[in-house]
Amino acid sequence: MSTLTPVLTDIWDAEQSWKLATYADRGGYEALKTALTMAPDDIITAVKDSGLRGRGGAGFPTGMKWSFIPQDNPNPKYLVVNADESEPGTCKDIPLMMANPHVLVEGVIISSFAIRANQAFIYIRGEVLHVIRRVQAAVAEAYAAGHLGRDIHGSGYDLDIVVHAGAGAYICGEETALLEGLEGRRGQPRLRPPFPAVAGLYASPTVINNVESIASVPSIIGNGAEWFASMGTEKSKGFGIFSLSGHVTTPGQYEAPLGITLRELIDLAGGMREGHELKFWTPGGSSTPLLTAEHLDVPLDFEGVGAAGSMLGTRALQLFDETTCVVRAVLRWTEFYKHESCGKCTPCREGTWWLVQTLANLEKGIGQESDLDLLLDQCDNILGRSFCALGDGATSPISSSIQYFRQEYLDHLTQGGCPFDPMKATLFA
Ligand code: NAI
Ligand code: SF4
Repeated sequence: MSTLTPVLTDIWDAEQSWKLATYADRGGYEALKTALTMAPDDIITAVKDSGLRGRGGAGFPTGMKWSFIPQDNPNPKYLVVNADESEPGTCKDIPLMMANPHVLVEGVIISSFAIRANQAFIYIRGEVLHVIRRVQAAVAEAYAAGHLGRDIHGSGYDLDIVVHAGAGAYICGEETALLEGLEGRRGQPRLRPPFPAVAGLYASPTVINNVESIASVPSIIGNGAEWFASMGTEKSKGFGIFSLSGHVTTPGQYEAPLGITLRELIDLAGGMREGHELKFWTPGGSSTPLLTAEHLDVPLDFEGVGAAGSMLGTRALQLFDETTCVVRAVLRWTEFYKHESCGKCTPCREGTWWLVQTLANLEKGIGQESDLDLLLDQCDNILGRSFCALGDGATSPISSSIQYFRQEYLDHLTQGGCPFDPMKATLFA
């Protein structure tokens, strides 16, 4: 693994990196001891000053989210870790939890102390049983070492962590659907506002943060807010894990400062596969508009990717070379959204079905040029009209692929089918 900022990934290559002893040998749980000597509000201030923004995709400032928790509310406060990583192409939280679960557990304890929560939940995607077991084992080790439970290290602070297994629905990564699931109901989004910070789990103030956001907290407390803020760009501070997949020589996770470019990351990953060149890519999973080889030098931070017409999202960089049929790739993603639509609202439930019908016909070369406008009209009737971000996300690959590859759609019509050799067109060729 090649990393530019080895913080979250620094022990991934160590033997038994997931064990408490390995983590403690590298200074693990020292930040917790520091945090327990601080006033909770000072921890929130440190996280605010660091500039850490949510690593789950939206980039909301983490310290600000914590400060929204109304401390005068008599209800219990909760911390919930969103570990339901499911965005197509996103593969950072799962390897992080497998290789270094203790950095997450330590982050949970510090973050819960900061918001005055005595109960935290780690909600892990149900299909990844090996990850659930690994995090459960790390939590058990932390209890045995006195990092969890009653009167942690004589501070008077109590915390329990429950590791919860989801049931395998993409929508449960949406924070309010996740809360529904945690409360034992069918996972469907709730109306926001109220945001979970005000009325979340069991209608109590709840902070919900992504795994990587919480795992970044110990290093901020241990090294200081200025250290974190010295990395990254002006408005997107710090580092992050970029997952590279697809037609690149060495796919994997690359930890780097925000603002690095795709060109630099491809160099780190040994280049595109030999003899091929980049055609299109996703900056943050399939819910973010596609970009092309024109965008190799875009800074991968929230502002830079936004200015290029897409979103940084989860830094799930899926790279496709010239052998890939963009229409086929987009159809495959759209089938995913149709399957994962929770059915609560009409634009998404019905709209994703229509998107698949129209796209599938275009991919087979059936139809006419005006069907492209029909497809864009269907997107227009979903975007901004759906109840949650899933519906909006479903339209991103379609509208951006038509923007950059309209001719390729038309070629399917003029040639009566996919112009690509089907064997070459597979994503894993
Ligand atoms: P959002 O921008 O609506 O909210 C982001 C966070 O800020 C939430 O925790 C929300 O509660 C909080 N927040 C926003 N305004 C607030 C306010 N006024 N008061 C208190 N809290 C406030 O984004 P959303 O819909 O939660 O997430 C969408 C993102 O999720 C997308 O950008 C996408 O990249 C990402 N995503 C990630 C996936 C994954 O597997 N990690 C899967 C699918 C999408
Ligand atoms: Fe459910 Fe889709 Fe509506 Fe979200 S946009 S509430 S996933 S039907």
